[in-house]
Amino acid sequence: MPAIIDTDPGIDDAIAILHALRVPDLDILALTTVAGNIGLSVTTGNAGRIVACAGVPTPVHAGAAAPLGREPRPETGVHGTDGLGGVTFPAPLAEPASRDAVAYMAEALMAAEPKTIDLLCLAPLTNVALLLRHHPEAAARIRRIIAMGGAVDEPGNMGADKRAEFNLAHDPEAAAEVLHAGLDLVLIPLDATRQFRANADFIARLRTVGTAPSVACADLIEAYFAQTEGQTQIRESRPLHDPCVPLYALRPDLFRLETRSLQVEPESGALVPGPYQMQVAMGVDADGLRDALAEGLAC
Ligand code: RIB
Ligand code: CA
Repeated sequence: MPAIIDTDPGIDDAIAILHALRVPDLDILALTTVAGNIGLSVTTGNAGRIVACAGVPTPVHAGAAAPLGREPRPETGVHGTDGLGGVTFPAPLAEPASRDAVAYMAEALMAAEPKTIDLLCLAPLTNVALLLRHHPEAAARIRRIIAMGGAVDEPGNMGADKRAEFNLAHDPEAAAEVLHAGLDLVLIPLDATRQFRANADFIARLRTVGTAPSVACADLIEAYFAQTEGQTQIRESRPLHDPCVPLYALRPDLFRLETRSLQVEPESGALVPGPYQMQVAMGVDADGLRDALAEGLAC
């Protein structure tokens, strides 16, 4: 199953990528990076570090340095100033393969048989929107977009009113262009990802798996906990948002989809009732996902 991962690593992005690179049933053609959790130079360097940790040589193509028509708004409070919660990773094995992720996506889609490549989207949708704008013929050849983003019935995680979710809110224009384009798309919102949680037992389980990627994921989840230290509520677990995307590609049976009629609110990026029919994941088998993630990281 060939796929391109579009990402802003990012603690949970890193877990998703380590898993996706190691499982035999996914053929990750490349990582494309975008500004989101942290600036583009950091997300791109982190993508190279994660590839080095996975030990699976994979090209990294740098993409958009800012949302469409806006300034970047990094989230160092969650992911740390290095974007990986201070967890030590090896140096990248190589420089980025290019600094034009959108051109790479278009070339890869045009070179492959139509409808054979999935886009696994873990970040603001700036790169994907630019692909649709500038390479519509390539965009028409995308097999499926699986994107983590939005909040449907649950509160979001962005802004004072918490109506929006980070990936859509960071670039609402891009989110609207992609989600309203009528592509074969599955959206995995906070409604689903907040059900997939890691606690101390799961961290211990990953350490027992013992591979470099699984130990790195244990360290990343611990860092995720550390980012919330001092907050009033002691967190017993942390949600694994982005890992839901490759897990859906591999095990859609572990997700419950609903069809909803939604639209992206232009200014805020909030998902509100609208005319666009979307497949959204609203439930997960959390135990099944934890087993699938731990098994994948053992590969
Ligand atoms: O809201 C969760 C999303 O925002 C995840 O992709 C996380 O990495 C952050 O980018
Ligand atoms: Ca992300």
